[in-house]
Amino acid sequence: MRKLILSAIAAAGLMVSSGAALASGAAEPLMKPGFSWEGFFGRYDQAQLKRGFEVFNGVCSNCHGLRLVAYRNLSAVGLTEEEIKTVAAARELADAPNDEGEVHMRPGRPSDKWINPFPNDKAAAAANGGALPPDLSLMAKARVGGPNYIYSLMLGFSEEIPHDVAIPEGKYFNKYFPGYAIGMPPQLMEDLVSYTDGTKATPEQLAKDITAFLNWAAEPELDERKSLGLKVMIFLAVFTAMLYALKRQIWKNIH
Ligand code: HEC
Repeated sequence: MRKLILSAIAAAGLMVSSGAALASGAAEPLMKPGFSWEGFFGRYDQAQLKRGFEVFNGVCSNCHGLRLVAYRNLSAVGLTEEEIKTVAAARELADAPNDEGEVHMRPGRPSDKWINPFPNDKAAAAANGGALPPDLSLMAKARVGGPNYIYSLMLGFSEEIPHDVAIPEGKYFNKYFPGYAIGMPPQLMEDLVSYTDGTKATPEQLAKDITAFLNWAAEPELDERKSLGLKVMIFLAVFTAMLYALKRQIWKNIH
């Protein structure tokens, strides 16, 4: 029976890993820089989330949406109420029809979800040479490799294209993108943003910070979930010790 279970686990493992290799299509194994939230005790680094937001707001949000994040949620990455109001009001959206049935635009409010840079998908694709910039809310969950994929993709652009790879006009070579030809131009470069906390914005730093922010967007409850997990473990340990003491007490005089 044990053997059977073990081989079932092994088979499942094989399927998962070969599926991963197939799905990614790119030969290059992903970089694994190590993130603060990994492991049992891992948590988000607040300062990093804020920096990641600054990258998203200043750069990525020109093309990408973040439709599952409401502006007011950004207090969790360290934005003040005033900052949230300013960020929300930077874009407009269609208001509810007025009494005459006319629809006007109004600036975004903290309770609104992140407003997409483009009015619709067709406009977004048209502005990007036919490639639609996907919404990034769940990107850290959507791709094989998760955060490691986003980090690697951000740093995977190169002008040295391998001789056996053809990159069509208007596409860019990225060694981590399935098929290598991506419709997104390279994004990260030295000092792309000036971080408000004074951190030096190297490409690696930018990649790590934006990845952290996108992981938060996809999994904002991670910190609470892990704290709860820890409490449950402590409770179980104490409870087990108590039961053991009780058992010893009860069986003390019985032989
Ligand atoms: C000039 C517009 C533009 C900007 C700015 C931009 N992107 Fe993109 N991005 C795109 C387009 C277009 C695609 C779709 C590419 C494709 O499918 O070939 C894309 C795709 C992606 C993908 C998905 C790749 C996949 O596996 O499908 C990720 C992740 C991504 N971008 C992250 C970012 C991040 C992070 C930033 C900010 C640092 C950013 N992008 C800035 C245009 C942009």
